[in-house]
Amino acid sequence: MEKKIAVIKGDGIGPDVVEQAMAVLDKVCEKHGHKFVYTEVLAGGASLDKFGVPLTDETVKVCKASDAVLLGAMGGPKWDTLPGNLRPEAGLLSIRNQLGLFANLRPAVMYQELSGACPLKESVTGTEGLDFVVVRELTGGAYFGKRDTGSDENGMWAYDTMFYTENEIRRIVKVGFELAMKRDKRLTSVDKANVLDSSRLWRKVTLEVAKDYPEVKLNHLYVDNCAMQLVINPRQFDVIVTENLFGDIISDESSMITGSIGMLPSASMGGTSFGMYEPIHGSAPDIAGQDKANPIATILSVAMMLRLSFGLDAEAAEIEAAVKKVLEEGYRTGDIMSEGKTQVGTKEMGSLIRDRI
Ligand code: NAD
Ligand code: IPM
Ligand code: MN
Repeated sequence: MEKKIAVIKGDGIGPDVVEQAMAVLDKVCEKHGHKFVYTEVLAGGASLDKFGVPLTDETVKVCKASDAVLLGAMGGPKWDTLPGNLRPEAGLLSIRNQLGLFANLRPAVMYQELSGACPLKESVTGTEGLDFVVVRELTGGAYFGKRDTGSDENGMWAYDTMFYTENEIRRIVKVGFELAMKRDKRLTSVDKANVLDSSRLWRKVTLEVAKDYPEVKLNHLYVDNCAMQLVINPRQFDVIVTENLFGDIISDESSMITGSIGMLPSASMGGTSFGMYEPIHGSAPDIAGQDKANPIATILSVAMMLRLSFGLDAEAAEIEAAVKKVLEEGYRTGDIMSEGKTQVGTKEMGSLIRDRI
């Protein structure tokens, strides 16, 4: 199989982890005779430094002409004082939007071997590991609503609007139901319907969509309660569907529950096989370029790419099995390190995984 992959290494640890993920893809190609043609393009801080903007039309064009996009992370202290529309993160939001990637799938899987890295007690997490998915709406809500800043007699003011249309809600909630149908048929819709109009609309639409999925057991949680439930009983969750900002927060919380933010992959989809694949973590400027970052989230993201964009289920499973094997053998990057295990750097972790494919 021949596929075109646009690669945005990004900032901070982005290049560290993406290079390992690409090497894993190369190993898969070598073993199975596929050909992946990479086109490296810039976005975020790297694009700002070169072109003065966080995203160029050329980068979007290359992504659109590809079968999938692999992305590291964007942002860093160097660009933190720029106005909002010029920050690297604005490039990330714009590319998600321009590519129509409204559904962000963030599987939170705790490998049994990593139960020691989870800050929760084993009586809470259980011994079999955890496995749930956060479906995060990605192109609406407060990230994309009307916003402004100004000043008056009270000093400066600023606002962001959490805006949703019925259609935007329906299409993402459907993704949640469809995914639940393929899993344990339990869907938790997370909102703040006791306060926000956009959440009341969310709940109304969710109840309508639920009629098409009578087999799925649906429940609703307010986001504050969900944050708490994740800590006291994470095993209750199968699929969580929620709006953009709530999903951002809940997924970082989920990552720690499963061991580390360095473990969680993601796929951003727009209703076709085209997708953008990235770890949920950021550019981690504190450890950038030091061979310390955990590349597993990005490596698992390319497994998602193989499965969701290319239909290469067996190859994806091979990558996931190799990750599990390396963890079973006791290798750990610093973020998941525990007593008696062998600490390795980014590059060695990547090569250990490749060797097991
Ligand atoms: P972060 O995820 O970059 O880092 C949070 C903490 O987790 C840090 O201590 C970091 O060292 C650690 N960490 C993150 N990824 C790791 C990995 N793979 N291995 C080991 N440790 C890891 O979040 P932050 O510090 O809030 O943000 C830093 C920058 O990244 C900001 O500019 C932010 O806007 C940006 N960011 C980008 C993305 C993205 O591009 N998708 C996501 C989140 C944050
Ligand atoms: C993420 C990040 C981004 C988001 C930022 C960097 C724009 O936190 O991918 O989770 O909030 O979506
Ligand atoms: Mn985030």
